[in-house]
Amino acid sequence: MKVIETKQYQELSQLASNYISDKIKKKPNLTLGLATGGTPKKTYELLIEDHKNNGTSYNSVTTFNLDEYIGLDPENANSYHHYMNQTFFNHIDINRKNIFIPNGLALKMEQECREYEEKIKFQGGIDLQLLGIGANGHIGFNEPGTPFLSTTHVIELAPSTREANARFFDSIHDVPTHAITMGIASIIASKEILLLVSGEDKNAALKRLLTEEEPTEDFPASILKKHPHVTIIADKKALKGI
Ligand code: GLP
Repeated sequence: MKVIETKQYQELSQLASNYISDKIKKKPNLTLGLATGGTPKKTYELLIEDHKNNGTSYNSVTTFNLDEYIGLDPENANSYHHYMNQTFFNHIDINRKNIFIPNGLALKMEQECREYEEKIKFQGGIDLQLLGIGANGHIGFNEPGTPFLSTTHVIELAPSTREANARFFDSIHDVPTHAITMGIASIIASKEILLLVSGEDKNAALKRLLTEEEPTEDFPASILKKHPHVTIIADKKALKGI
């Protein structure tokens, strides 16, 4: 795993945006795995600027999002569909038919999970997966204990994850209890991974990722050690004391 240290969040976001934009320039039909949450927000903002100022085109890019809450309508302000539209897709020239996000309202969840995996495979796999990390080491919504061999599945969110994400909702009671997420095996099948880590809240998780020896299912992000092409961009606060 290659680690790039930045002074703060702004610089982290700039590097991440440059990284993604360079990949698209090299491969205009890139298949890009996307993440939500607070960390990549600025990266999306800078990618939009880059699209407007430098003309980086998403016309041939295909995207797959990591996860979605179960039970939230795509129009719900807290759904990841809504997040992606507002934060990124509405501002770039991506073709709507090339956007894939798990459907948190699917009536047959098992079928939805299976079909999501098939769509990724049909596309030839993900070229570059953008990732964040939860304070408990979750990636996507794969909570501690999720099997490394898991593919897209439904998961019950850990109480700590619901608490961490409650900041986006009116109250913790509104945070869904379940989510549909790409599995750890689906994430690790990506050809390349870009992990963004910002702030003191993530310091302990990053320390565990960079210092502990063997991957363990108790700490989902640890699987990244086994991937041949992972780049971590982390700011000083996240890297403090490491
Ligand atoms: C969320 C998302 C993850 C994200 C992580 C960290 O719950 N499901 O994809 O990477 O938790 O989020 P944040 O960047 O807001 O700290």
